[in-house]
Amino acid sequence: MTEQVKTQLEYMDKISKINKGKNLKYHIITMGCQLNENDSEKIAGMLMKMQYAETIDSHDANILIFNTCCVRENSEEKLFGKIGETKKLRKEKGTIVAICGCMMQEKHITEKIKKSYPFIDIIFGTHTLYKFAEDLYNLLQNKKKIVDVIDIDGEIYEGLPIKRNDNKKANVIIMYGCNNFCSYCIVPYVRGRERSRSPQDILNEVRELAKEGYKEITLLGQNVNSYAGKCRGELCSPEMPLREVFLPQANAVRPYTDNTSLRLRYSEYGNALDQTWDFAILLKEVAKIDGIETIRFLSPHPKDFTDEVIEAISENKKVSRWIHLPLQSGSTNVLKLMNRKYTKEQYLNLVEKIKNKIPDVVLSTDIIVGFPGETEEDFEDTLEVVKKVGFEQVYMFIYSKRIGTPAAEAQDQISEDIKHKRFDRLKKLVDAEVQKNNQKYIGKTEKILVEGFSKNNENMLTGRNSANKIIVFEGNSDLIGKTVEIKITSEHQWYLRGKVENNIERTSK
Ligand code: SAH
Ligand code: SF4
Ligand code: F3S
Repeated sequence: MTEQVKTQLEYMDKISKINKGKNLKYHIITMGCQLNENDSEKIAGMLMKMQYAETIDSHDANILIFNTCCVRENSEEKLFGKIGETKKLRKEKGTIVAICGCMMQEKHITEKIKKSYPFIDIIFGTHTLYKFAEDLYNLLQNKKKIVDVIDIDGEIYEGLPIKRNDNKKANVIIMYGCNNFCSYCIVPYVRGRERSRSPQDILNEVRELAKEGYKEITLLGQNVNSYAGKCRGELCSPEMPLREVFLPQANAVRPYTDNTSLRLRYSEYGNALDQTWDFAILLKEVAKIDGIETIRFLSPHPKDFTDEVIEAISENKKVSRWIHLPLQSGSTNVLKLMNRKYTKEQYLNLVEKIKNKIPDVVLSTDIIVGFPGETEEDFEDTLEVVKKVGFEQVYMFIYSKRIGTPAAEAQDQISEDIKHKRFDRLKKLVDAEVQKNNQKYIGKTEKILVEGFSKNNENMLTGRNSANKIIVFEGNSDLIGKTVEIKITSEHQWYLRGKVENNIERTSK
């Protein structure tokens, strides 16, 4: 546990004593990606320790938290609409209102909130989330509004309590921040530099989850395959084969014959000082943990997708066959302007390599339409790559200017009209491709973890196959949390329909 977290646990204890017996409740509204969802789970964990219980009704909450995202402009519009509505709530019920997350790392936003929404009690950023208990304590004691945002490269705080949203599937952060500075993207500015958690902390978290009965985990980070976690002064896994041993006194590198990329540095006395693990090693080690049936990861960057990672996936059936491989654009010119560090051809070669080594792979991607300077020809390159790869899911975004990013300064911005027309053309192609790809599932039997009732049809159950396809089928609630075999009967664009074929007995803990 990090020292700072110990201090925070003391604050949680103090607040818990103040709140005991008061029947207080919290409600968190989370916007953005899984990283924010994980942060919200940590905030919920802290609140539970401080004697707040969860409520699904924001009107019933004594503390209301907005965890914000700023990756695209529409997230701002959404937030301001929502916080405006809380003014009345705060006045009538005395609800504490806090706003946190990525958007709070943007100076112009916090200024706007302070000016236009002065009733907000606490504003905190991504780097001060771990201090939430201290901020809340100070608010309760001094009744003064708190703005706690710092702009730093970032640290890792281990040991915060967490209240997970699900009891079978869990997200496990492996690295924070991003060093890539894609020219359109705000994330590196609001989440700080890349920093990897230590392999011990990650493996211990996954082992704990397995013990608690979790079956699926998703390894999370903005760029998971640039993972470079260091063991702290001892061997994380003594049986791990070595490739290189650095001997600092002689400045020599002694290569070993096997092909993992674990590095072991020795002190002059020959003791192991630290090991740096890459993503391939981490995947292999996580896959050894009993009880975990499916391992997913989000998001890899094509430029860091090594042969070792492909091998680690192909060798481990537990690792999902679904790979999300963000393309962003199919045009080498645009990719260069985006600072993505790969060309159209390199992306296509990588896809070929992955398909050869993992024949049952399913690919999904992210694409931005209307990046500044994107010509009709560039856009057609994107359409061509989409046709060639045969993605089964494509998340399409219209380029959105982010203040402070280089692309926002570009003179050759694309008109809204062209952006929307291109978006529609891409969507049409993607819809047709997805439908075509879905055909191959019909008649197949898929083993899936039953997640719960379908959001769109309360009489149906859903789960996802190893390729992350949503499967909807009839069944009763006692199947939830169990692994079942489903025969696919039809396809419906974004989901597949099926029938329970065989219920693999597994008692949920
Ligand atoms: N680190 C991940 C995802 C980051 S954000 C990755 O690199 O894949 C998720 C997606 O939002 C990105 O993949 C990108 O497609 C989209 N996105 C990011 N900034 C954007 C912007 N300014 N306008 C439109 N889409 C954007
Ligand atoms: Fe943004 Fe690029 Fe980093 Fe992804 S890799 S978070 S798109 S800068
Ligand atoms: Fe949004 Fe922050 Fe995630 S900007 S996409 S919530 S890292």
